[in-house]
Amino acid sequence: MAEDVKVKRVAICTGGGDAPGLNAVIRAAVLAGINRGWEMYGIRDGFNGLLMPENYLDGGLIRLTRERVRGITHLGGTILGTTNRGSPLSFPLKMPDGTIEEVDRTDELVRSFRMHEIDALISIGGDGSMTIANALARKGLWVVGVPKTIDNDLDQTVVTFGFNTAVAFSTECLDRLHSTASSHRRVIVVEVMGRYAGWIALESGVAGSADVILLPEIPYDLEKVAEKIRLREEQGSNFSIVVVAEGARPKDGTVSVISHEVGRAERLGGIGEKVSQELQQMTGKETRVVVLGHLLRGGSPTSFDRLVALRFGAAAVRAISEGRRGILVALDPPIVQYVPLEDATRRMKTVPLDCDTILTARDLGICLGD
Ligand code: F6P
Repeated sequence: MAEDVKVKRVAICTGGGDAPGLNAVIRAAVLAGINRGWEMYGIRDGFNGLLMPENYLDGGLIRLTRERVRGITHLGGTILGTTNRGSPLSFPLKMPDGTIEEVDRTDELVRSFRMHEIDALISIGGDGSMTIANALARKGLWVVGVPKTIDNDLDQTVVTFGFNTAVAFSTECLDRLHSTASSHRRVIVVEVMGRYAGWIALESGVAGSADVILLPEIPYDLEKVAEKIRLREEQGSNFSIVVVAEGARPKDGTVSVISHEVGRAERLGGIGEKVSQELQQMTGKETRVVVLGHLLRGGSPTSFDRLVALRFGAAAVRAISEGRRGILVALDPPIVQYVPLEDATRRMKTVPLDCDTILTARDLGICLGD
């Protein structure tokens, strides 16, 4: 519970894939910390600034002043840089015999924090970053996590910042694709990110009036999708919009993976092209595929994401000033609350099959591939 603590130096890091709102969290945390008389620091590229300081002209750990965070709330990306490879828990190191071995570098990291006299760390990231944050907390480091990811798959928070911006952009793309699909009487397949969770596909698909939405949570039968497209033809709609989550898979098949690399999660992708080609064969209709990919991670955060990000950044600093550690700030509307990091890393938050948005999709007649 809350205690009166003396804090002097706090570091912030951003890890994993970038998401709109990272800079807003940084600005809020820096200002809230400085206003308490603390020194605020930023670590370059996840933890690389501390693990490989020799690679940075500025030493990998930079002082964050009011000037440094001025005018960044609306900017996408992160002023600190980020990485989604080389977790300190399994860092790929080249061995003398030339082979690559994954090494746990968290002890080294904790020593580096001590050496720089950092009292607490604000770690902004998704499930991978929170697993690292939890491991560091177990080793005695004072850590407060902030939930980020466009995928919205982090448990214990209703939303992560970045998700709303991704959904808004994807929805706008679906709106734009409707007119060209309709003019050419085509089937347009739109592949969206989200890893093993279908949040972006579901929410933008419903908001953007897709005819079919394929999610990782519901393995699909493409015959059901072809039937839906044929039915629409019979009813006079000679075009269709199909949204496919990158982690979607056929009933009797597997997830489409682009590559497996040492030191990082498998890269998903390619399912849109497969679905598009198969649907062209099955329906005889001309199809096109659009992969939204990293466009979903770019651009300015929506006002919703900006506000959530600013609230998260300020709440992380309040948590530290109250002596709370090993926690994640989380949105439980209308409040921001604190949950144990341990709980947030236990499972992935996927779309519940009985949730209201799934029911809404079915009521609207959207085909979910089952
Ligand atoms: O986790 C965010 C995310 O954008 C996923 O939706 C996607 O699968 C992955 O990152 C892509 O990672 P990369 O930037 O390495 O291509």
